[in-house]
Amino acid sequence: MQRFTGKRVLITGGASGIGRATVLRLLAEGAHVVAADIAETVLKEIAGSERLTARVLDISDEEAVNAVVSESIDRLGGLDVLVNAAGILRGAHTHECELEMWNRIIGVNLTGTFLVTRAALPALLDTGHGVIVNFSSTSASFAHPYMAAYSASKGGIQSFTHSIAQEYSKQGLRAVCVAPGSIRSGITETTVQHLPEDVDWQLFGKLQPAIGEGFAPPESVAGVIAMLASEDGAFITGTEIRVDGGTHQ
Ligand SMILES: NC(=O)c1ccc[n+]([C@@H]2O[C@H](COP(=O)([O-])OP(=O)(O)OC[C@H]3O[C@@H](n4cnc5c(N)ncnc54)[C@H](O)[C@@H]3O)[C@@H](O)[C@H]2O)c1
Repeated sequence: MQRFTGKRVLITGGASGIGRATVLRLLAEGAHVVAADIAETVLKEIAGSERLTARVLDISDEEAVNAVVSESIDRLGGLDVLVNAAGILRGAHTHECELEMWNRIIGVNLTGTFLVTRAALPALLDTGHGVIVNFSSTSASFAHPYMAAYSASKGGIQSFTHSIAQEYSKQGLRAVCVAPGSIRSGITETTVQHLPEDVDWQLFGKLQPAIGEGFAPPESVAGVIAMLASEDGAFITGTEIRVDGGTHQ
C-alpha cells in the first residue's frame, strides 16, 4: 500500500516504540516524514531514508516547539498529517505525588500535545484535509491505580481532541485519538520501575490482552494510525480507537 505518497507528516516521539513504528510504517507507504523526539541518539539510528528528517525536540518547551514545527513545515513544504505520539509515564501514590512530577507529566503529555498542535494547525488547515492523530491511553477510561497524573493527562488529550475535531470540522480537519494498551514499548518496559515499591497488583483490573501472546508489538498500533491518517479513515473524527487486544472491554 502506498497511501502516503506525496503526504507530508510530522511525528513526535518518533525515536521509540509506537512513534518509531509509525515513522517506519508511513515511510514505507511513501510519506515524507519529520520525526521529532527528545532522545537524540535513538533518532540517529532510524535516520537514513532520504524522505526522513530527524529533529531533537522537547514538546513541553514552547519556544522550541514553535521553531521546530515551523522549520519542519518549511522543509516539507506544508503539512498533511500530525501524529502526537511523544509521552511519558511516571507513577506514585497520589497523596505522595510531588507537584513537580504532576507538572512534568501534564506538561509533556497534555500541554506538549497542545503546543505542537497549535503550532501545526495553520499548515494543516491550509491543506483542506489535515489529520491529527493524538495519543490517549486505556488509562483515560479504565482505572489505572498510581497513575492519576498520567491518566488525567490522557483524559485531557481525549477531550482536547474532541474539541478541535468539532471546531475545525468545516475546514476539512480530522482529529482522532488512539488509545493503546498492553503494547511493548519504552514506556511499558519501564512501567514497573515507575510504580511505588509496595504496588498492589490486585488493584489493577486485567493486565493481559484477551487475544494474542501477551503484549503486542508497536507495529499493531502503527497500522491503525496509518489507517486513521489515510483516506481509509476519511469518515472518522472526534473519537478514540482502543488498541489493547481486549485487555479492557
Ligand atoms: N505502550 C503502551 O501500551 C501505551 C499505552 C497507552 C498509551 N501509550 C502512549 O503511546 C505513546 C507512545 O509511547 P510508547 O508506548 O511508544 O513509549 P516509548 O517510551 O517507547 O515512546 C515515547 C517516546 O516519546 C519521547 N518523549 C518523551 N518525552 C518527550 C518530550 N518531552 N519531547 C519529545 N519527545 C519525548 C521518548 O523519548 C520516546 O521516544 C505515548 O503517548 C504513550 O503515553 C502507550
